[in-house]
Amino acid sequence: MEIEKSFLSSDKLKSLPRDATQLEFGKTFTDYMFTMEYRFGEGWTHAQIKPYQPLALEPATMIFHYSQAVFEGQKAYRSADDDILLFRPYENARRINRSMVRLGMPTIPEDIFVQAECELLKVEKRWIPTQKGTSLYIRPVVIATEALIGAIQPSDSYLFFIILSPVGFFYKEGFNPVKLIVEKDYTRAASGGTGEAKTGGNYAGTIVATQNANRKGYSQVLWLDAKERRHVEEVGTNNIFFVIDDKLVTPPLTGTILPGVTRKSVLEMADVLDIATEERLISIEEVVTGIESGRVKEAFGSGTAAVISPVGIISYNDKEYVINNNETGVWTQRFFDILTGIQYGELEDKYGWSYKVV
Ligand SMILES: Cc1ncc(COP(=O)(O)O)c(C=O)c1O
Repeated sequence: MEIEKSFLSSDKLKSLPRDATQLEFGKTFTDYMFTMEYRFGEGWTHAQIKPYQPLALEPATMIFHYSQAVFEGQKAYRSADDDILLFRPYENARRINRSMVRLGMPTIPEDIFVQAECELLKVEKRWIPTQKGTSLYIRPVVIATEALIGAIQPSDSYLFFIILSPVGFFYKEGFNPVKLIVEKDYTRAASGGTGEAKTGGNYAGTIVATQNANRKGYSQVLWLDAKERRHVEEVGTNNIFFVIDDKLVTPPLTGTILPGVTRKSVLEMADVLDIATEERLISIEEVVTGIESGRVKEAFGSGTAAVISPVGIISYNDKEYVINNNETGVWTQRFFDILTGIQYGELEDKYGWSYKVV
């Protein structure tokens, strides 16, 4: 793919954050962005790297009305050898394509998706922070750009853009146990809906519940299934794992859960580390009675933003259940250490997950 590049003079470049560990997640953006356009009949054309700037779109543009849009979330890490490392970027390329198919959008060839990220990262290397725990968050997005508010139909044009944001810890708690509250009124995704696609509507619907949880002093919502309000599905924007009776248990991917790259990696690691895994329905009763009886030994969320986040407390029916004395469990720590070790190029990558940008 040919990429047209336009650069700013050096006096126009932004100054780098002084301490990336203190940045509010996703609020600072780098100097440049990648864009590429799609037109029905022509395919993807006009790849560009250009200064980060506002988009000019008509008010009638379909994205503003019917939310035909998908996105991804990844991170670039800087290794001690000063390499730029990505984590399994082809998994994200495949997932954005699955999301686009679900939303009736054209797909992007996987190599082009990854190449676009690599070329932008090479231009923006100075923005990748160096401290452990920090990284350059990558946000690829595809939006419908046709101006049409009539029929609910696929747009005839799309914009693919990638923006970058230097980040520190996702949770203010850092890598410490978080408190969750089980949401009983709202649900995140229903069978047959768009839960397994990474599309904005899934997230808009969670804002009120998350606000309510935060107001009560909880970091995140523990989502239950939409049909029975019984089975645990995800935690905030993370997949959820429990260590129950020395088995690693996580809900199955039945269409309402986002298939996390971190989730997949944890399950693959578990096979090698010799902890049995189960992908099966987990009822909230099983979780709370298991915490009380000691069968539930650990719980953690998995996702790109926080990597692995230990769960210390779950509130359900106005009662708080404390897991592992509100301390990070052994397996939780182990998965965090291995994943971050590979991501920062500190551990031998025996899984072949680290992807060097060259
Ligand atoms: C709803 C939801 N679940 C799970 C995840 C975790 O996915 P991943 O591990 O690919 O970041 C995310 C984040 O992308 C998410 O938004």
